[in-house]
Amino acid sequence: MHAFKTLGQFIIQKQADFPYAKGELSRLLRDIGIAAKIVNREINKAGLVDILGDVGTTNVQGEQQKKLDVYANEQFIAALTTGGECCIIATEEEEEIIHIQSPVSGNAKYIVCIDPLDGSSNTDVNVSVGTIFSIYRRKSVEGLADLKDVLQKGTEQVAAGYIIYGSSTMLVYTTGVGVNGFTLDPSIGEFCLSHPQIKIPTTGIVYSVNEGNYVHFPDGIKKYIKYCQVEDESTNRPYTSRYIGSMAGDIHRSLIKGGIYMYPTTASSPNGKLRLLYECNPMAFIIEQAGGKATTGYERILDIQPDEVHQRVPIIIGSIEMVEKAEAFMKEFS
Ligand code: AHG
Ligand code: MN
Ligand code: MN
Ligand code: MN
Repeated sequence: MHAFKTLGQFIIQKQADFPYAKGELSRLLRDIGIAAKIVNREINKAGLVDILGDVGTTNVQGEQQKKLDVYANEQFIAALTTGGECCIIATEEEEEIIHIQSPVSGNAKYIVCIDPLDGSSNTDVNVSVGTIFSIYRRKSVEGLADLKDVLQKGTEQVAAGYIIYGSSTMLVYTTGVGVNGFTLDPSIGEFCLSHPQIKIPTTGIVYSVNEGNYVHFPDGIKKYIKYCQVEDESTNRPYTSRYIGSMAGDIHRSLIKGGIYMYPTTASSPNGKLRLLYECNPMAFIIEQAGGKATTGYERILDIQPDEVHQRVPIIIGSIEMVEKAEAFMKEFS
């Protein structure tokens, strides 16, 4: 009989690898897993209950909030508040960071940055969406943690992960010792280890970018896209183009199959569109841990010192050889 290992069992086993760990991080990951299951349940019946469409409000990014954006945000905040291991949450859906001041978590050690629902424009049309999270240890030792504890470089992450609510639901995470993937078995309601020690192929045949913005891309990106489209047998070009519009989904495909994902600067997003703290840093940490690379074109994503919570950066991420090729084009032409 095939024995499954659940996310809970895996986390406990890994904790034993760190003899001084007190279990707080394990509990935090467990809390995120619980919220993910609740959000998954709601997304699965989205067409049946009144949870599709806009709320009629805009978030700090100036984006129309979807009902599922708001629902997922509430669920993750609730799970992290109840769990007691997190002192601050920075979320895409709220301008200010949230201090959790319940008696249990006032002095908790961890900060969570989260994109509760990634790819929310896909919710109404039954296409994969995700959740992306990043975990930091607070640096301040006394009193309440504050914004400084949130604005840490990506290299300081202690864990990061994403969930994809797709044809099946998966949770992928790293604590800095490789990347593991779990698939939700709906019949038992558990995430089960399905993708141990994921390694990203060093190259691939898929490039992923919103080509509708092509005219606004920097010259280096334009030239790289043209390179992807040129015929060359030795490198399997022309490459295939795939773009879901949910970065977690698009990058997950690159992680499993090899490939490159880009969200460069554009006229309407001069700093890029994707947010450093809860989109780019966690995905960069995971991809690097799997052997890939993530850069703005000029600088490693994880080395950027953030100066605001909702800061945006351009990103090129995926298989190392493909990202380095794109970087070379950026260096030469942009
Ligand atoms: P979110 O839904 O969390 O606001 O993120 C949207 C992001 C990302 O998921 C996606 O890859 C990208 O925006 C798509 O942007 P375009 O529609 O401009 O291509
Ligand atoms: Mn959004
Ligand atoms: Mn997002
Ligand atoms: Mn989002």
